[in-house]
Amino acid sequence: MISIKSEREIEKMREASRIVALAHEEIRKAIRVGMTTKEIDDITERVFKENGANPSCKGYPRGSKNPFPAASCISVNDEIIHGIPGDRVLQDGDLVCIDLVADKDGYHGDATRCYVVGRGSKLALKLVEVAERSFWAGVEQIKAGARLSDISHAIQEYVEKNGFSVVKEYQGHGIGTSMHEEPGVPNYGKPGRGPRLAAGMTLAIEPMINSGSPDILELGDGWTVITADGGLSAHYENTVLVTKDGAEVLTIL
Ligand code: MF3
Ligand code: CO
Repeated sequence: MISIKSEREIEKMREASRIVALAHEEIRKAIRVGMTTKEIDDITERVFKENGANPSCKGYPRGSKNPFPAASCISVNDEIIHGIPGDRVLQDGDLVCIDLVADKDGYHGDATRCYVVGRGSKLALKLVEVAERSFWAGVEQIKAGARLSDISHAIQEYVEKNGFSVVKEYQGHGIGTSMHEEPGVPNYGKPGRGPRLAAGMTLAIEPMINSGSPDILELGDGWTVITADGGLSAHYENTVLVTKDGAEVLTIL
């Protein structure tokens, strides 16, 4: 079942999403070569706390033997998603993706941004740009009555047209009182399939794209997902509200 949020719930989604956007703003201003990924995570912790929000990723999933240990997922270079912040020091040219989920009053907002620190390669800069633009290609498809896979198809088409590949094993998702709700939102597929979009649905749309092969590997830490070929990966994500005539992106201020 795909939940349709009431006006009251949409206000709560807006607030959780606003806090995620604020944390991203602070990180964008602070990120630099020589910083550790833990220092970035500390900014997330501080901004969430100042705004009365909890980091949804920390301790997720509840009751697991190996829950995610930090507030932010920070994935560098060949890391695709779920990188664990720590004492890694950012180097000149690193491609750094930061995925943040805030829980405010029981509602979640989810967004990812990538930066190239220092002097980035043309390839890294282009990959980051294509990830972001592919998200917007997906969002352009959104209106009440469109089908879910219209979003997926538009993302895949945009990414592949630009010479990159889409990760298939992970996808976007509905979001609300849980970080992950129905429906799953793949970043590939034929158009005209899946449920019809309706006003009041809230979706986290999140293309994960690779410079080379789409194949992935999981590291022994049980979280970090990397490219199988060692190529670069980029990720871009926002929490989006379906409205009667389009979409409202909640995680951009
Ligand atoms: N934005 C990620 C997602 O949509 C957040 C994962 S949090 C983690 O799955 F705890 F699973 F790492
Ligand atoms: Co997400």
